[in-house]
Amino acid sequence: MTQSAIYSRVVGTGSYLPARRVTNQQLADELATRGIETSDEWIVERTGIKARHFAAPDQTTSDMAVEAAKRALEMANLSADQIDLIMVATSTPDFVFPSTACLVQSKLGVTNGCAAFDIQAVCSGFAYAMATADNFIRSGAYRNVLVIGAETFSRILDFNDRTTCVLFGDGAGAVVLQASSETGILSSALHADGSYSNILCVPGNVNAGAVQGEAFLYMDGQAVFKLAVKVLEKVAHEALEKAGLEASAIDWLIPHQANLRIMTSTARKLDAVEKMVVTVDQHGNTSAASIPLALDVAVRDGRIQKGQTVMIEGVGGGFTWGAVLFRM
Ligand code: UT7
Repeated sequence: MTQSAIYSRVVGTGSYLPARRVTNQQLADELATRGIETSDEWIVERTGIKARHFAAPDQTTSDMAVEAAKRALEMANLSADQIDLIMVATSTPDFVFPSTACLVQSKLGVTNGCAAFDIQAVCSGFAYAMATADNFIRSGAYRNVLVIGAETFSRILDFNDRTTCVLFGDGAGAVVLQASSETGILSSALHADGSYSNILCVPGNVNAGAVQGEAFLYMDGQAVFKLAVKVLEKVAHEALEKAGLEASAIDWLIPHQANLRIMTSTARKLDAVEKMVVTVDQHGNTSAASIPLALDVAVRDGRIQKGQTVMIEGVGGGFTWGAVLFRM
């Protein structure tokens, strides 16, 4: 008897943004009180960002992840106990340990003992998590996997550093990936180059009961910019090639929402500027949450339809990068 192929299909999406929305002007006014000069004009021109959301002081990454997950589960028509695996892509976990995924499992009320772990690939985290989930599903190990990207980057921003603090925001996005005989994920490609670890990092750790080193985000913006443009184009073509598709097959391109200039430059090379989903203007850079947030927005507003081909691609600290091509 021949067994039919198993695919991983997106059967639910969800997202969550914290209530506090801060426009560029509001942020510039706040920074001015510390003697830091910036402007709405500079931020929009260099990044495309107009506003971002910041978590409340008592709101954690797992809190936001749970809200996004509930919405994805509702769309998938699944109860919490039907989940076989929970993965949270985050660089801003609630604690050193336990993993944010374990906290999410508990807060969702999942009592079936399903596996739960975090993925740490910074802004590429969601692409890494989708590809990992796909492998678990295609191997037959799991049927329903909750894949979440959630971040509270506001906690690691140095609000005295105008070159970074205007760029990032908080939020969460989630998908439910399900085993199916229908085509879902078509291909994925993941990469890393640890020799660039120092151009985007939070170079601190916990030692002897205190933070040693710096617990603030550091970024060499121009070095990241150059590398990002180069690797995103390459990895997009790699994923297309693996699936045996041309760039023209892409219906929707969802790049990591870091900077509109980087996003547009990559989209141009794929001739997909019109097909790009853009949320960076309203969300800022939410690291691992940016792609599932954008995906959920475009699914819920009706742009992304069943049967269409979507490419997600991310790049971030590590240095890491990756792309996943799937059919909705
Ligand atoms: O998610 C991880 C991936 N991260 C990224 O994709 C970020 C990649 N990098 C970038 O997006 C860009 O490099 C930035 C948006 C971070 C910076 O844009 P840029 O065009 O590379 O600007 P720059 O660093 O060359 O700075 C230009 C000028 C400088 O002033 P001088 O030296 O020309 O006088 C900066 O001091 O802009 C100044 N500047 C600012 N001015 C007003 C830097 N930050 C600000 C600011 N407001 N917030």
